[in-house]
Amino acid sequence: MCGIVGYIGTQQAYPIILKGLKRLEYRGYDSAGIAIYNGNDLGICKTKGKVADLQKKCEANIELEGSIGIGHTRWATHGEPNDVNSHPHYSNSGNLAIIHNGIIENYDSLKKELSNRGYTFQSDTDTEVLVNLIEDIKTKENVKLGKAVQIALNQTVGAYAIAVFDKTKPNEIVVARLGSPLAIGVGDNEYYIASDASPFIEYTKNAIYLEDGEMAVVRLGKEIKVRKIHDDSLVDPYVQELQLNLDQIEKAGFDHFMLKEIYEQPSAIKDTYRGRMLPDQGLIRMAGIDDNLERFLNAKRIVVVACGTSWHAGLVSEYIFEDLARIPVEVEYASEFRYRNPVINKDDIVIAISQSGETADTMAAIKLAKENGAFVFGVCNVVGSSISRETDAGAYTHAGPEIGVASTKAFTTQITVLSLIALKLGKAKGTISNSDFHMYLNELELIPYKIEKALESNEHIIKVAEVYKDAKNCLYLGRGFNFPVALEGALKLKEISYIHAEGYPAAEMKHGPIALIDEQMPVVVIATKKGHYEKVVSNIQEIKSRKGKIIAIVTEGDTAVREMADHMIEVPDTIEAFTPLLTTIPLQLLSYHIAVMLDKNVDQPRNLAKSVTVE
Ligand code: AGP
Ligand code: GLU
Repeated sequence: MCGIVGYIGTQQAYPIILKGLKRLEYRGYDSAGIAIYNGNDLGICKTKGKVADLQKKCEANIELEGSIGIGHTRWATHGEPNDVNSHPHYSNSGNLAIIHNGIIENYDSLKKELSNRGYTFQSDTDTEVLVNLIEDIKTKENVKLGKAVQIALNQTVGAYAIAVFDKTKPNEIVVARLGSPLAIGVGDNEYYIASDASPFIEYTKNAIYLEDGEMAVVRLGKEIKVRKIHDDSLVDPYVQELQLNLDQIEKAGFDHFMLKEIYEQPSAIKDTYRGRMLPDQGLIRMAGIDDNLERFLNAKRIVVVACGTSWHAGLVSEYIFEDLARIPVEVEYASEFRYRNPVINKDDIVIAISQSGETADTMAAIKLAKENGAFVFGVCNVVGSSISRETDAGAYTHAGPEIGVASTKAFTTQITVLSLIALKLGKAKGTISNSDFHMYLNELELIPYKIEKALESNEHIIKVAEVYKDAKNCLYLGRGFNFPVALEGALKLKEISYIHAEGYPAAEMKHGPIALIDEQMPVVVIATKKGHYEKVVSNIQEIKSRKGKIIAIVTEGDTAVREMADHMIEVPDTIEAFTPLLTTIPLQLLSYHIAVMLDKNVDQPRNLAKSVTVE
């Protein structure tokens, strides 16, 4: 999610910050901005679009002389990408400027309080609320900027990496982080601030990485003092000498963006339910649903339109919606839906799922649905994307930029959003009990930690990949909620290793595909101890008896399958409806490692684009 950069020292800040923003472009963003203190005032220049656009705008519009400044590349979460919503944001007095990476969950209640106290807002962002909260506290309590930031953050719920500057005291920058990364580059009488070391690694290899819940006042000529935000206690700053090169930093030390994004899934899911799922209050808050609740409750049918991995997430949602909310669901390939003259009714709800928000087939399906009077709800990962603007309402997955062409964290965050919707509707309709509703919320809150547990099988999965990397074909089998995961696992293998693979409902084997089974055919079977476990076990026996090679994805501690499978990969136990969030993890890793062993271009596989904006 986006990037922050800051500089305080003796050199000109503008060129350093601008280059730093360019270094952070790999993270994905939709707009950029910069603020420099030029001795008299704080010049701010910001724009929707690329850093190159910012450069043109800055150099044409304001004088950017000065040796202290901040810069930002935005990945919008609140407020569509445009010039006004770009960072940095000013406080009402014009004295404070802030850049922020993350999400302020309670921004709307804070905004209401500040508005009641006369504050006005230029943008739709949560960030602008934070900078005015800081100003409000600084003024009311008559405290220094650092203290005001600390008090404000203790009133804030959410995730942030921030840098705040006060033009009335232009020799310091206050930084803080919770849930989003922030590093301080320690130079010779100068400091750099950034989301990762890529903007400053060429100037200094000495860095302090703030931990979650820490803040610091970065002041020229002064040692960095790191404090805990919640109790102001001092922390010994650990200055480490970095050994990473630029490419390694961009991928956070992973070899590929795809692997980085597989490992980002725990935090991506947390960011996706953050502020929406309130287990303590037994609530799910989603404006797009809340504002249209009657329509959803009266819907006769939900039609999902999507492509590829997003279509697989839609198929998972069919099982979830019908199980939890008892609403009939049909899942359509957008490319088929748009041309087959489908029956679309006015009380239909169409859910369009798209990571990029730009897929041409999905956009066309939306237009057709709207022409026929249906209400269209979008589930996108890119704020302000074409599909998010075309739909009548929606809910964003807050997965952050997904750079690898093979979709991973988009899939699991889409399922998270769809699960929240199904749970909300199920509770409202009374198709799930209050106690079950609480049980689901509490379990969903544990899923990121269970994904972390599933990721611990990585080394074991590398060994399995080694055995099957030369297979020419592969079958993936699953039942119930995990049938779509079988399809998704097969797609992952196909698109990055170029090995032919097919996903099937496990019970379908006897209707033909079992003729394919021999000792050359690896079969990945999702056999978690839920649903029709015994049936899947008998499917495994059928394959075993025909000398098929079994790679079984099982619930940790499973013993029955152990006797039959050639390889077992365990995932933690969870509620049946949430098993796809866990069983997909080993399948992502398996396809990734096989592709790496085959020396394929994992992040940009042949023939593929990240967003298919053509028919
Ligand atoms: C998935 O790994 C593929 N990259 C592809 O199937 C993708 O899911 C599909 O093109 C849909 O993209 P979207 O979610 O951006 O609409
Ligand atoms: N939530 C802030 C916004 O939407 C920051 C998003 C980001 O991390 O770039 O502007």
